[in-house]
Amino acid sequence: MTGFLRLAEDIAREAGDMLLAKRPTMSEEVETKSSPTDVVTILDKASEELIRERILAARPGDRILGEEGGEAPGESEVRWIVDPIDGTVNFLYGLPDWAVSIAVEVDGRVVAGVVNAAQRGEVYTAALGEGAWLDGERLRCTIGVPLAQALVATGFGYSVSRRAVQGEVVAAVLPRVRDIRRGGSCAIDLCSLAAGRLDAYYERGINQWDYAAAGLVATESGARLGGLLGRPVSPDFALCAAPGLFEELHDLLVPLDPERDA
Ligand code: IPD
Repeated sequence: MTGFLRLAEDIAREAGDMLLAKRPTMSEEVETKSSPTDVVTILDKASEELIRERILAARPGDRILGEEGGEAPGESEVRWIVDPIDGTVNFLYGLPDWAVSIAVEVDGRVVAGVVNAAQRGEVYTAALGEGAWLDGERLRCTIGVPLAQALVATGFGYSVSRRAVQGEVVAAVLPRVRDIRRGGSCAIDLCSLAAGRLDAYYERGINQWDYAAAGLVATESGARLGGLLGRPVSPDFALCAAPGLFEELHDLLVPLDPERDA
């Protein structure tokens, strides 16, 4: 596993350095994807190309799922899950909270994860069963924080039709917690939670590449990561917090359950 983590970290650092160098002049070429708010810059694509090249040079048989290039079929039990820039809107606006995220999955389980928040100068790493670190320092999430004192992060995804109900849920959560943050990068939110800078995070309608690496960072820091109503985390829904707070917050979020849409 150390080999996977080292390779993922080297690649995430190289992609982050490239993005830092090129962002000032090249971040403005933009296309939209699933909705007018869902953007991709030329550098999202360049970052993913670099990451794919480096992975395949080191491990030619492995599968890769990437935000921009999708999934290539293959026989290997190893799959790399890549978000070349998580927090693309922040990146586009010159806000510092964006990250390169790389997870390594073996037989369907994420075993290593790296989140390089390059403009913050922070690299988060985790290995399954071994812990989570920020630049080599062991991470522990906050424990025992009651709902009323919790700093809660969320995200809204890009589905315009879903945003009305997300707004209603925020209105219900806000009076019950210390405050709410919308940072703009799921990966950084989960890593911030692991570092004790946030107490909880939830979002409906994300993608596996947003949370694969950072989800391992969060769980290895002691947090629980799951979906609604006992389901596992999935692109439908992610909730993360220390046990106890997880259950308290969960009950306020049930209106976001995708199965209520029908
Ligand atoms: C987005 C960010 C954002 C979250 C969205 C994601 P992207 O990822 O993680 O915080 O709210 O759901 O899609 O598009 O910047 O890679």
